[in-house]
Amino acid sequence: MSDKWKEQTVAVAIDGPSGAGKSTIAKLLAKELQFIYVDTGALYRAIGYMALRRGISLQDAAGIEALLPDLRVEIRYMDGSQRVLVNGEDVSDKIRTPDVSMAASAVSSLPAVRRFLLDLQRDMAKTNNVIMDGRDIGTVVLPDARVKIFLTASAEVRARRRFEELKEKGVPTTYDEVLADMEKRDYDDSHRAAAPLKAAEDAILVDTSSLDLDGAVSAIKAVVEKALG
Ligand code: DC
Repeated sequence: MSDKWKEQTVAVAIDGPSGAGKSTIAKLLAKELQFIYVDTGALYRAIGYMALRRGISLQDAAGIEALLPDLRVEIRYMDGSQRVLVNGEDVSDKIRTPDVSMAASAVSSLPAVRRFLLDLQRDMAKTNNVIMDGRDIGTVVLPDARVKIFLTASAEVRARRRFEELKEKGVPTTYDEVLADMEKRDYDDSHRAAAPLKAAEDAILVDTSSLDLDGAVSAIKAVVEKALG
């Protein structure tokens, strides 16, 4: 990574557990700053979805690894919103179910899967100003990101938000189920050996538990504007 590259593009990394509001906030902010929003969770979801679709057990690490050479994963933008394509098929709408959330978490613990998706994420930041959200953006994917934010909120608040989102989409589930899934995903994502969810040393911590969306967006915007100068 040359210094010239660093001068040319600006990256804002937003990491944190699921349901902290990363994608909603990052999307709004990207629009304001005219940056490209990159949702990296969608990439892990796409792999998890393909594993489920091919009937590969989520415990079968070798089976999931063997699937990777068959997959061509691409990010495209349509009307300003990110779409994820696998072998030319747009899977963006199919990867938002609770089953795919759990599958994404499972496949994301495999180093081979993380390696497989690394260049795609870095390439996005090489050629665009990005706001990228995920779990390891500030620590692994873009360690030189100009701004690093670690966004969090209590598990109860995050589960409540996610439950309302799923309810709105008509996905049948209960708050208790969402909370249990979220606690399991939090635990697995932060305890895996490969790129566990953790704040980068130079990340700014923002807790959105007691903030509404406007409050959270303003808090993050202030941090980003200060850092970008
Ligand atoms: O952000 P999300 O809920 O769509 O992410 C789905 C899963 O993918 C999540 O359980 C953890 C994993 N993930 C990851 O390991 N690294 C990232 N950069 C983004 C997501």
